[in-house]
Amino acid sequence: MGKLSVCQVFLFTFFIVLLVSIFPATSSQEVEDEKEFNYDVHSEKGPARWGEIHHEWSACSHGSMQSPIDLLNQRVQIVSHLGRLNRSYKPSNGTLRNRGHDIMLNWEGGAGSMHINGTDYVLQQCHWHSPSEHTINGRRFALEAHMVHESSDGKVAVVGIMYTIGRPDSFLSSISDHLQEVAGTKEEEKAVGIVDPRQIKIGSRKYYRYIGSLTVPPCTENVVWTMVRKVRTVTRRQVRLLRVAVHDDSNTNARPTQPINGRHVKLYRPQDREDN
Ligand SMILES: *[C@@H]1O[C@H](CO)[C@@H](O)[C@H](O)[C@H]1NC(C)=O
Ligand SMILES: *[C@@H]1O[C@H](CO)[C@@H](O)[C@H](O)[C@H]1NC(C)=O
Ligand SMILES: *[C@@H]1O[C@H](CO)[C@@H](O)[C@H](O)[C@H]1NC(C)=O
Repeated sequence: MGKLSVCQVFLFTFFIVLLVSIFPATSSQEVEDEKEFNYDVHSEKGPARWGEIHHEWSACSHGSMQSPIDLLNQRVQIVSHLGRLNRSYKPSNGTLRNRGHDIMLNWEGGAGSMHINGTDYVLQQCHWHSPSEHTINGRRFALEAHMVHESSDGKVAVVGIMYTIGRPDSFLSSISDHLQEVAGTKEEEKAVGIVDPRQIKIGSRKYYRYIGSLTVPPCTENVVWTMVRKVRTVTRRQVRLLRVAVHDDSNTNARPTQPINGRHVKLYRPQDREDN
């Protein structure tokens, strides 16, 4: 009787061990599925393969006006006719969400708008990439913020701001407690109250303008890009706080730069020379 129990215990234990050795495959599969794409260049879900993951993502591989790009000084055309950025933002209720590949600050219903060449684009959300996605003369910076705007007929315009390590960025300082709270979460929204997008400082009137795409799948094209010329500063700690959202091994969420394919890049510079 005693011997039989030992035998039963042994068999039971063996069965459990067997189950455990079969099912980890399933649970790690779920973890994999948590993100349909990643930034690991060696992965099957990495940037070079995004266009093969879903048919609707094919622009990521086959598009001809993809973002980000290198803003190479020698191919930039300096102009003054684009005009100052015409933005009228307003403080609005915001939520923060860890999307797994980045942290996004969303303004439900928009937070004012930006006017470009006859079209009004409503500010929808802001998110961060580290290191920067765009480069200037091949140089990558520590962080890039994307302020994403959409017109009533679905056209997208993004304002990008690049940061190098230095003094703290005051906007990120103002929301750092909230950022800390969502860092460990997944996909859940956290209301953060009224956030004023005018506190996201640009500090320059100069900007690059070109036509590109979303830098994450589905890599939709015809996005009007405005990249602020001035590189601002953040602390290492602020960059780290935004980076914890990215769970894959690559630990970055910057897409590699994409071919220019003959596109024009303009650098707007105001005519009054004392301005920078
Ligand atoms: C902001 O959202 C909260 C709920 O998340 C709501 O109680 C509050 O009334 C909103 N405030 C404004 C100004 O819309
Ligand atoms: C600025 O945008 C507003 C609408 O948001 C528009 O009425 C106005 O004409 C624009 N100004 C310029 C100089 O484009
Ligand atoms: C403004 O839009 C018009 C037509 O929509 C286009 O022909 C023109 O090139 C645009 N100008 C700029 C500076 O983008």
